[in-house]
Amino acid sequence: MCGITAYTGKGEALPFLIQGLEKLEYRGYDSAGITLVDEKELVTIKAKGPLAVLKEKLECGTFDQHTGIGHTRWATHGIPSNLNSHPHTNAAETISIVHNGIIENYQSIKEGLDMQGYAFASQTDSEVIVHLLDYYYQGDMKAALRKVMGYLEGSYALCVVTVDDPETIYVAKKESPMILGMDGSAAFCASDIPALIAYTKDMITLEDNQMAVLKPDSIEIFDAQGQIVEPKRIHIPYDLEAAQKNGYDTFMQKEMHEQPYVIRETLRGRIEDSIVMPELDGIDLRDYDHVYLIACGTAYHASLYAQYLGREWMDMPITCVPASEFRYGNYPVNAKTLAIFVSQSGETADTLAALKMCLRKGATTLAISNVLDSSLARLADITMYTCAGPEIAVASTKAYTTQLVLLAAMMVKLAQNAGAQVRDVETFIHDLKEIPNVVEAMLEQENVMERYARLLQDQRDAYFIGRQLDYVSVLEGALKLKEISYVHADAYYAGELKHGPIALIDEGTVVIALATQKEVAPKTISNIEETIARGAKVILIKAPGIHSDKIERQIEIPAIHPYLAGIPATILLQLFAFYTAKEKGCNVDQPRNLAKSVTVE
Ligand code: F6R
Repeated sequence: MCGITAYTGKGEALPFLIQGLEKLEYRGYDSAGITLVDEKELVTIKAKGPLAVLKEKLECGTFDQHTGIGHTRWATHGIPSNLNSHPHTNAAETISIVHNGIIENYQSIKEGLDMQGYAFASQTDSEVIVHLLDYYYQGDMKAALRKVMGYLEGSYALCVVTVDDPETIYVAKKESPMILGMDGSAAFCASDIPALIAYTKDMITLEDNQMAVLKPDSIEIFDAQGQIVEPKRIHIPYDLEAAQKNGYDTFMQKEMHEQPYVIRETLRGRIEDSIVMPELDGIDLRDYDHVYLIACGTAYHASLYAQYLGREWMDMPITCVPASEFRYGNYPVNAKTLAIFVSQSGETADTLAALKMCLRKGATTLAISNVLDSSLARLADITMYTCAGPEIAVASTKAYTTQLVLLAAMMVKLAQNAGAQVRDVETFIHDLKEIPNVVEAMLEQENVMERYARLLQDQRDAYFIGRQLDYVSVLEGALKLKEISYVHADAYYAGELKHGPIALIDEGTVVIALATQKEVAPKTISNIEETIARGAKVILIKAPGIHSDKIERQIEIPAIHPYLAGIPATILLQLFAFYTAKEKGCNVDQPRNLAKSVTVE
């Protein structure tokens, strides 16, 4: 987990590196650093803390070098500190590297280097790379890097510069993302598309075990044997504005407001008279003994939603498991397994590891990813994309709701492929198409949720309750609240409250309840009333036609198919979490201890 970037060209490297690091800061913000290089020397400047601290440091100098590398760090091995920040440099200060990933065998490499007399300045796994390069470098950095790649176990995206060859960047990749591009006067690369998009929309994705050599007027890609290979080119259809805040104070707010648009984009071309998903034409769940949905965090909640629909519509076992559990659990996987992976980034370590395990065991794999050509997308047998665009805020909003709509359409298609009768399918598909308008209407309730959020001003806890599909939404609502506002939030099945959690309800306790599923709503209302009797302050999100006079704060979602009601309800819960966090003065986009894509276990 980290963001890296590099530039070599006719222009100055620093402006590119800084804008790149700004775009990549969501990948880690514990520290940042750069190395600039010319024929005389390497200049390395790093700073603990967010990128702003580095920028302040850089204001004290003039930097006109044409080549450089940059890094923004999310600490894995070694605490956030100046010394543990990247770039890492050899003792002679002739080679400098930035690394994203984890070197699993760094201890043994370090012991070997120790014996050769190498001294280590940091506690990071990454530092071994620069010393190993130093050890093998004999005037040909490409050869040294290939040798080093042969020793490294784990994951890496690497950029290397040397004072001996100040116009060249050496790049290597395995299991961490790396995108390359050119604009006529320079070649550059970064961990993610937004860092390049102001310079070019035509990019190259580096594949695992490939190496790239960037010069101001060329990019060459080599395979593991050192043979030149044809670059894998992609064209990016969206523009820089999509990666910026668009007038909002925070990315999260901007991204919440993008939801009507990105949901429409995700469903574009997918719904005609029936669901259009040619990717799934050959998939009949009756051919499989086991069907899994596997994901982490918010994407896991989206998977739970799909599991629920699958179980309602089909008479076959569909099991949803968090990726971190699946990979170590004894779940049967074989050639008669279909494993569906859901991931915004497509780079989450646990999800990727579970996918690789399923591939090894011969399962059919299907990935849902938001990032074009992500590792997950490349590895899976079948990939479908949500079209949420870059999601920069750490807390997922638009990626989640686009996952929900894509999964809703997918489950209809899978049910129909399996010959199942989907009850009310016409209404469901009609209402699915209407979701962008419904979401729009919910976003107009921002002021109400802002007002309700004040209830938590002096509270440390909040309890979310719901039954059936509402339970999926309350899980997500509670996650959103705790991750950005640091309010302790728990989600319970409403019917489980009396089996223990109700002991926590006291005068003034805030309970957020969902009652959008008509059949069970009266029971949820009774549970809510039990909390009111104990002094709880309740916010009820409900479908039309569900009433209780005892609940002071109620907000209604539009009339919609009950299996889609979780989407508008989620919008309200996102707004609730957002305003609670704002009210408490939290950094909404970059909550503590979290990073956008969790590429470590
Ligand atoms: C929470 C959140 C995380 C991610 C999780 C998986 O708001 O964003 O829980 O959902 O880390 O990430 P992806 O979807 O990239 O695999």
